[in-house]
Amino acid sequence: MQLVKIDADTNGTSLTLSWSDDSQSRFHAIWLRDNALEPHTRSADNGQRLITLAEIPSDLHVSSAEVVDGDLAVQFAPCGTSSVFPAPWLRAHGYDHTRNKNDPQVPAGIELFDSGLSLGTVSSSFEEIASSEQALLAWLQSVVTYGFAHLTQCPITSGALLDVVNLFGYVRETNYGKWFEVRSKPQPDNLAYTSAGLQAHTDNPYRDPVPTLQLLYCLENAASGGENQVVDGFRAAMQLYSENPVYFDLLSRYCVNFEFRGQAGTALTTSMPMIELRGQQELRCIRYNNRSAAAITDVPFEHMEMFYAAYRRFGEIIDDPENQLQFKLNPGECFLVDNLRVLHARSAFELAATDSSDGSDAGGRWLQGCYPDRDGLLSTLAVLEQRLHSSSQQTA
Ligand code: FE2
Repeated sequence: MQLVKIDADTNGTSLTLSWSDDSQSRFHAIWLRDNALEPHTRSADNGQRLITLAEIPSDLHVSSAEVVDGDLAVQFAPCGTSSVFPAPWLRAHGYDHTRNKNDPQVPAGIELFDSGLSLGTVSSSFEEIASSEQALLAWLQSVVTYGFAHLTQCPITSGALLDVVNLFGYVRETNYGKWFEVRSKPQPDNLAYTSAGLQAHTDNPYRDPVPTLQLLYCLENAASGGENQVVDGFRAAMQLYSENPVYFDLLSRYCVNFEFRGQAGTALTTSMPMIELRGQQELRCIRYNNRSAAAITDVPFEHMEMFYAAYRRFGEIIDDPENQLQFKLNPGECFLVDNLRVLHARSAFELAATDSSDGSDAGGRWLQGCYPDRDGLLSTLAVLEQRLHSSSQQTA
């Protein structure tokens, strides 16, 4: 895309850039100066900004702007600073977009899914992603695109789930430990540790910040039942909005209290919306977990009945088999979910055999789980993209 023309407004406070595809994009002088790429503004060593806004004159404007070698060259007044902005950088960082402020937005770069998605689309093997950066990149990209990814042929060893996490990031330690066991046990401190089915949910909405990723890793699964399901919470939220914008508004406007006190020494509480939006109505986070929802107190009396109707309908959409992708984890398989977007569920199961040698009724179905952080995954993904993209350009 070529930058073909630049027009400044009369005060020099903004520029209109015209592109070879006949599109235009506007940029403010203050935005350009704040985002100058030169070493006078950004550290050449680490890219961090070296100036504060206080160092930019409040009466800043553009004194001259022209296309030089296809890029935008700007001189600012009254400071006299000069900057060049590469055309591709301007295209990638444009903000002159119009959005309907009333409609919720799905974040860019994701694909909504339902029961029709093939598990193979998001699946790889441990050996593949451990030995090939290209395979690792594709697997991590699945987490961004679909909100989950599936892995086969992992080591069947207790704690080996950390070997998967080590390929892309770091685990967040919680009161459940660095990782936790998911197997039925007597007097469970969490219903996850029984053989009961679990409605689709996001994990730990009683935390702030909420866990951003969850890895569930299978070591044994001789039980009958116990299938896992994943549900695209963003898709469910958009369906709710298309059916009933008032319901959507109620679930995104009011907070729900969440709490967990099932473990000695732990009292976790928070209050956040079930459907959290950011910026211009962009979906950010789904919090849905009937087990840890406490009494709702944020909703005013006159809206409470309607709120419950909205809550009920959202649950029906989430529980709809059409929206649930189901699979059964075999030993050595795991899946990674974006806990801000994708809900997970489990069917009830019956243990095929009991092992009472250690006094517990564990045996037959044994999973381990942990909470890696999403920022580490996104960082690894960005670095891999940059590295593999630049090496493919060099070989081209
Ligand atoms: Fe869970």
